[in-house]
Amino acid sequence: METLMLTGTEQSLSEARPNSIDFDRIANLHYLGNYVRRLPINLARMMENAYDWEHLPYVHASSFSSIDLIDSGAWGWRAKIGLPDGAPASHQLLDLLVESDRHYWVSTVYSGPGTGIEIHTQATTIDEDEIEVDVRFYLPEAPENETGAEMILAYMQQQYATLYDEDQDLMLGRQSALNDRQRWGAGAPSSKDVLVGAIADLDPDEIHTVELETGRFCVRQYQGEWLVHSAVCTHLLGPLDASQINDKGELTCPWHGYHFDLRTGENSERKCRALVKPPELIERSGQLYLRPV
Ligand code: FES
Ligand SMILES: [Fe+2]
Repeated sequence: METLMLTGTEQSLSEARPNSIDFDRIANLHYLGNYVRRLPINLARMMENAYDWEHLPYVHASSFSSIDLIDSGAWGWRAKIGLPDGAPASHQLLDLLVESDRHYWVSTVYSGPGTGIEIHTQATTIDEDEIEVDVRFYLPEAPENETGAEMILAYMQQQYATLYDEDQDLMLGRQSALNDRQRWGAGAPSSKDVLVGAIADLDPDEIHTVELETGRFCVRQYQGEWLVHSAVCTHLLGPLDASQINDKGELTCPWHGYHFDLRTGENSERKCRALVKPPELIERSGQLYLRPV
């Protein structure tokens, strides 16, 4: 694993940070306003998302360009974050403290642009598959005037609308991947070959996704040869069915950027298991079939 380089100041700032939410601090901050959003997911997915620091530069690429973890635990996480091109300074130090029983979390920028901004989020269940998040923005000091305050609030609300649009897709994708996994776990492999299609009809530039009783797989061409790989990432079940192949012959998962060798299925970073072994790909009379293994 790469070691994260922090400057001496960044290190001492990080060490001085508490690992629990100090609710009394709010009294010293300026409450700017909030952003309220209903989401068609359950609290489990939402809390998982709050702890998931690693998705920031991948799922929210327009807001974050990189993330390096400083520390994490049941209390939350602390990280050095790269801001996208055009931002006045390139890094922020940020932490996200969680009170998981209360479904409450606070993110605080403690170095870099926006230092001192605290964002408090309360998630509440509406019904089985719907929650509401109330995102409250606190600034270290009141803006100079009403117009300034309105502009900052509108900007924050817009930014959070985008972040939650992106998170909603991620959380819905994750929930449906969990449901699929449950269904596939109960499925028995088919005893017959499953037709993918006639080679003459299969577009070599497309990814052909096939769902079997035991999983979802992608049939595609690489360097002129047809091959098959799992459509599901082994980290947190991210979708690999639109993943382009890089020049090292790897697939990249869109959720946390893990790479998988297309031929062996191994994770290049050695952070998670290899991809599920795909069925055998068979050519017979000009047709491609998958033979469950
Ligand atoms: S789900 Fe995390 S890298 Fe694929
Ligand atoms: Fe997110």
